[in-house]
Amino acid sequence: MDHFTLRDGRMFCEDVPLERIAEEVGTPVYVYSQATLERHAQVFRDGLKDIPSVHIAFAIKANPNLGVLRVLADQGYGADVVSGGEMARALAAGVPADGILFSGVGKTPAELKAGLEAGIGQFNLEHEPEGMALAEIAAAMGKRAPAVLRVNPDVDAHTHAKISTGRAENKFGIPIHEARAMFARLAAQPGLDLRGVAIHIGSQLGDLAPLEAAYTRIGELVRELRADGHKITHVDLGGGLGVPYRADDVMPSPAEFGAMAARVTRDWDVELMFEPGRVIAGNAGVLLTKVIWVKPGVQNPYVIVDAAMNDLARPVLYDAYHDFAAVRPTGETMMANIAGPVCETGDTFAMNREIDAVEPGDLGIFRTAGAYGATMASTYNSRPLVPEVLVSGDRYAVVADRIAAGTIMAAERVPEWLK
Ligand code: LLP
Repeated sequence: MDHFTLRDGRMFCEDVPLERIAEEVGTPVYVYSQATLERHAQVFRDGLKDIPSVHIAFAIKANPNLGVLRVLADQGYGADVVSGGEMARALAAGVPADGILFSGVGKTPAELKAGLEAGIGQFNLEHEPEGMALAEIAAAMGKRAPAVLRVNPDVDAHTHAKISTGRAENKFGIPIHEARAMFARLAAQPGLDLRGVAIHIGSQLGDLAPLEAAYTRIGELVRELRADGHKITHVDLGGGLGVPYRADDVMPSPAEFGAMAARVTRDWDVELMFEPGRVIAGNAGVLLTKVIWVKPGVQNPYVIVDAAMNDLARPVLYDAYHDFAAVRPTGETMMANIAGPVCETGDTFAMNREIDAVEPGDLGIFRTAGAYGATMASTYNSRPLVPEVLVSGDRYAVVADRIAAGTIMAAERVPEWLK
């Protein structure tokens, strides 16, 4: 459920008409609903109510906007970060340091050190040399780094190849058959408090079976590690729960997901950690855009909107579907293609789709754009960086400015020898 609804024939975000935002902030612009973020945070937490000890860390790669992070921090969410930049954001937004988990396959020694200095809650180690480096840096600082070892359970998550992470051939984690020996070597390092294991098998998962298979494997590993004499107190089960992008998509609910997790982990006796991203933010945001032209096409007309692949990259990257709706629907529909102004054929949001009828000057939204939307935006074609707005009730705030092409150009220069 979200808070983007039609009232008296026009689309609102909570109690703010999208037309007002378009007029005052301009388009394209991302619009987030605080009430939806809060509701999703609560529904996900409620789904895990049968698990005795839980830490939820929002995967901030999905939406690292400071305003969004503050909403989730106020909900008691920690943060799963994958770079020094994300860590700085989480801290700036008020996420307590001990609620921050540091994931990612390419953490640099400088980032590891920054994490230790900030006192973050946990490092999710991706392989042995990283663990050894962390141990050394921590020991030199007189610290013990809280850490878990990320294991690759080799399961097929049945999702898009580019967002699958738990197959043996993917770059993430260590092969599960190497886990015991590696765990023993790392646990022996005085600079490490190696306290458990982590997994994350992929994103936009519409089927609980692969998750259950992965959790079950990790449960066996926990038993083996305990039998080896290790103290296992934490298991990080990652994120990945999918969201409906189409009206008829059926996804497992947070309650079904939580019931499965509670059942599989019943006798683990650990603090369980989760790193949801998309399920919290995806349907809490839309990309608001204006139709510039309607151009004849071979089969159907091209509706050319002012948002493009640089603003919302998911369609070109993953062939992703984002529902389109008019902000002031007439009740009529049209068969159309929807494309942006960028000079690439891939800059196409929809082909041969039946959509609300629109004309030049009309406003529309791409739904389910709150996760992996603004954060993946670029300035390709020297377009401005897309702004973001957060709505709460009848208020809204611009939580990220539109960064003009000229501002970006101001950071460039022609070298002296060419002048
Ligand atoms: N934890 C780890 C270690 C991850 O790598 C990810 C996502 C998450 C948690 C959060 O997964 P979620 O709950 O959001 O599914 N840009 C792509 C998605 C990339 C996901 C990468 N990792 C997209 O737009 O679909």
